[in-house]
Amino acid sequence: MNTTLVADVKSAARSYRSGSTTVPALRNATVQVSKGELIALSGPSGSGKSTLLHLVGCLDRPDAGEITLGDLRVSHMSAGSLAAVRRDRLGFVFQSFNLVPVLTAYENVEYPLLLTGASAATRRTRVTDLLERVGLAAKAPRRPHELSGGERQRVAIARALVNEPSLVLADEPTANLDSATGAAVLDVMEDLRDRLGVAFLFASHDSQLVERMDRVVTMKDGVTCD
Ligand SMILES: Nc1ncnc2c1ncn2[C@@H]1O[C@H](COP(=O)(O)OP(=O)(O)O)[C@@H](O)[C@H]1O
Ligand SMILES: [Mg+2]
Repeated sequence: MNTTLVADVKSAARSYRSGSTTVPALRNATVQVSKGELIALSGPSGSGKSTLLHLVGCLDRPDAGEITLGDLRVSHMSAGSLAAVRRDRLGFVFQSFNLVPVLTAYENVEYPLLLTGASAATRRTRVTDLLERVGLAAKAPRRPHELSGGERQRVAIARALVNEPSLVLADEPTANLDSATGAAVLDVMEDLRDRLGVAFLFASHDSQLVERMDRVVTMKDGVTCD
C-alpha cells in the first residue's frame, strides 16, 4: 500500500435516473491524491466534476469502480459508516460557503468539533489557531453577514480543517469571489498545505486557480483524461 495516498479512485462510474432516462454523470474516473497535493478537476460544466467530488466525499456511492481513502474502501461501505468517514477524515468547502448565519465566525469553525465531542480545551486551541492561520483572529466574534465574501470563504476553510482531515474537497471555491479575493483564499490553502500537509481536491474552471495547482485532471463527458 502507498502510505502517502489519501485518495485512490479507480474506474468510478455513477448514473442518475431521471424518469425513464439514465444520465451517465460519471462514466470512468480514475485519480489518485497524495498527501499534501493540490489537485484541480477541470473541464466544462456537466463533465462530472461535482459528481466525482461527491463520491470521493462519501456523500454518494459509485455504481461501479472502487474508491479508497487511506486504508478504507469507502465505495463498499454502508451509509452510516460513510457519515463517520466524512466527519473524521474529510473537510468540505463549497462555493456558497454554507456558514450558519446565527453563529459567529468562531462558533462556525467550532461546530464540527462539538459533533465529535472534543474537549473544551481542544476546541479552544484548534479554533483559535485556525482563525489565526486564515487571518481572522480579530473577526472571531462577527457573524457571517458582517464579513466580506473572502472572509466568509476563509471561515469556511478554517471550519473544513478543524477536524484535522487528510483531504479537503472544494467545489468551485472561488466561483463567488473576485480575482484578488480568490487569489488570497488560494494563498491560505497553499499555506495550510505546506504547514499541515493537507491535500486539496478542487473542482474548478477558474483558470487563475487551475494554474496554481500541483496537478490538473481534465474531465470530459464523465471521463478523466490525463
Ligand atoms: N442528481 C442528478 N440527477 C440527474 N442528473 C444529474 C444529477 N447530478 C448531475 N447530473 C448530471 O450529470 C452530469 C454531470 O454533472 P456534474 O457532476 O454536476 O458536472 P460538473 O460539476 O462538471 O458541472 C450533468 O449532465 C448533470 O446534468
Ligand atoms: Mg459542478
